[in-house]
Amino acid sequence: GIAVLDLGGQYCHLIARRVRDLGVFSDILSADTAVETLQSFDGVILSGGPGSVSEPGAPRVPQTVLTDLGKPILGICYGQQLITNMLGGTVIQEHVREYGLASLSLIEPGPLLQDIPSDSMVWMSHGDTVTSLPQGFRRLAKTETCDVAAVADLNQRIYGIQFHPEVTHTQHGMAILSNFVFRICHAAPTWNPASLKDKLIEQIRVTAAGRKVYFLVSGGVDSNVAYALCAQALPPDQLEGLYVDTGFMRKNESEQLRLAFARLGLPNIRIIDDSQRFLDAMQGIIDPEEKRQRIGPLFIEIQQELVGAIEHENQNWVLGQGTIYPDTIESGGTAGAEVIKTHHNRVPMIAELAAQNRLLEPLQEFYKDEVRALGEALGLPQDLINRHPFPGPGLAIRTLCSDQHAKAMPHDGIAGICREFGLHGCVLPLKSVGVQGDNRSYKNVAMISGPAALETLSQVSTRITNGYQEVNRVVYGLDAAIDFEALRVHDALLTSTRLDVLREADAIAHQILHDHGLEHQVWQFPVVLIPVSHGAEHPTGNQGETVILRPIYSVDGMTAEFAKLPLPVLQEMAQAIRQLPTIDLVGFDISNKPPATIEWE
Ligand code: XMP
Repeated sequence: GIAVLDLGGQYCHLIARRVRDLGVFSDILSADTAVETLQSFDGVILSGGPGSVSEPGAPRVPQTVLTDLGKPILGICYGQQLITNMLGGTVIQEHVREYGLASLSLIEPGPLLQDIPSDSMVWMSHGDTVTSLPQGFRRLAKTETCDVAAVADLNQRIYGIQFHPEVTHTQHGMAILSNFVFRICHAAPTWNPASLKDKLIEQIRVTAAGRKVYFLVSGGVDSNVAYALCAQALPPDQLEGLYVDTGFMRKNESEQLRLAFARLGLPNIRIIDDSQRFLDAMQGIIDPEEKRQRIGPLFIEIQQELVGAIEHENQNWVLGQGTIYPDTIESGGTAGAEVIKTHHNRVPMIAELAAQNRLLEPLQEFYKDEVRALGEALGLPQDLINRHPFPGPGLAIRTLCSDQHAKAMPHDGIAGICREFGLHGCVLPLKSVGVQGDNRSYKNVAMISGPAALETLSQVSTRITNGYQEVNRVVYGLDAAIDFEALRVHDALLTSTRLDVLREADAIAHQILHDHGLEHQVWQFPVVLIPVSHGAEHPTGNQGETVILRPIYSVDGMTAEFAKLPLPVLQEMAQAIRQLPTIDLVGFDISNKPPATIEWE
């Protein structure tokens, strides 16, 4: 396999991913990994990173990696600069960062750029530049702005490239990585997650070794597959699934999960109903971040209690969970990586269990799509492995809360854009609506209404969000007509009644999606409840609310496009959802990410 040494940032993640896509095992290791450890790999990649080699404290690899390892090495971006710097070349700090597409011209291909056209597009993102090469190195390629875009010491098999082959913008990026992995390192394409099934089962048996496995399942793909693997590895009385019901799950979710496992003949799962505790923890909270900050720790507290209870029950135990590779990386699990978010399966208590050899994580080396492949190899039904992602805090962050009272406001610019297309538009001030790279403070939603085709909606949405930075979301009313004068934001907290209404609305939308066979056309489909009423108070004295349909297309959730589902299907959903008590309006979120986020909080 190939070792990817982490020189900071998340670049290494994608590189490892790409190498695995080539069918070769790759592992991300910290920059200070010793030469002896690297000996077992076919080659080493030094990742990119945000640092500058001339700055004190910039990440480095041991000098011996470059002088004594004797295996092929490829430095990417910062990796190339580090190689240059450590082997006696010169790297200078530029005042402007070069960022974007550049045209790569080959000088001499060498094995690394073999079969790459003499001119192709590459993605650049760097602040420093190599100006003189270490002894034994020659230039392989340049761009208009970067004289040293690829270098090599062909005898030592040390290569460097300034651009990023791992991003899709680099036209022949995969071919270049493939040249390195196969032509230079001679690695074998033996990595195939499905073929590892038997080995994983064996590992589970060894780790569990006569102890009872208590396995935390969440209903998500990862823990479903991990649990099913354990069930194939262990006799039923050696395995028990534990499932915490937060009360923020979708309709019948706990029951469906139990049935699905039962149908597969998997050992029963114990459902622990903690919904009241979670709801109590949300008392009076409006801010989305505060919601998350309470739900996460409470989940950990409950896990801790569970572990205490297990210990009491039976001292001969192991805790299992469906941790996958990105969970560890995003939690700062490798030395150079920054913490994106600490996953609840990577908290100190779990580290302690690992140190006591009481942790079983059969999927910790896998990426999500590899987990799906394994699930298929295990014969799991599609509804367990191809589920849409669902956020841990669940419906709690899809039930928007508010302490405001506000009216919809006319907006000349938005009204003007809408008029061009025969539509109407206004702005709704809504606190706490998610926007990328923002402190999630006051944000506005454009509400538009009138007859339109999807193509028009797409144009209007882009025109509005490009033209008005104070607006980051655009919602199209699925109702015949919206009277903007009658639209009002009102106060609302997280209550079981509101959660129940949202659960119903979500179930209706997903049932209709399923009936039309459109489930697998979207990547995710949040349904959101917002405290916006339209018209008079309801006879019950309850304030009216609005349901937002948010179907999206995405690859990894990092960017997203609103899903162009047929409007008649969306209208069918809206009509059914409007039958629910308190629901005044149903809107279709037609914003893309960026500038919006997928979730509303
Ligand atoms: P955003 O809203 O940031 O969402 O565009 C991107 C993806 O992340 C999911 N998401 C979460 N998942 N805990 C989770 O486990 C969270 O707090 C959380 N917030 C967002 C979201 O569903 C989408 O898939």
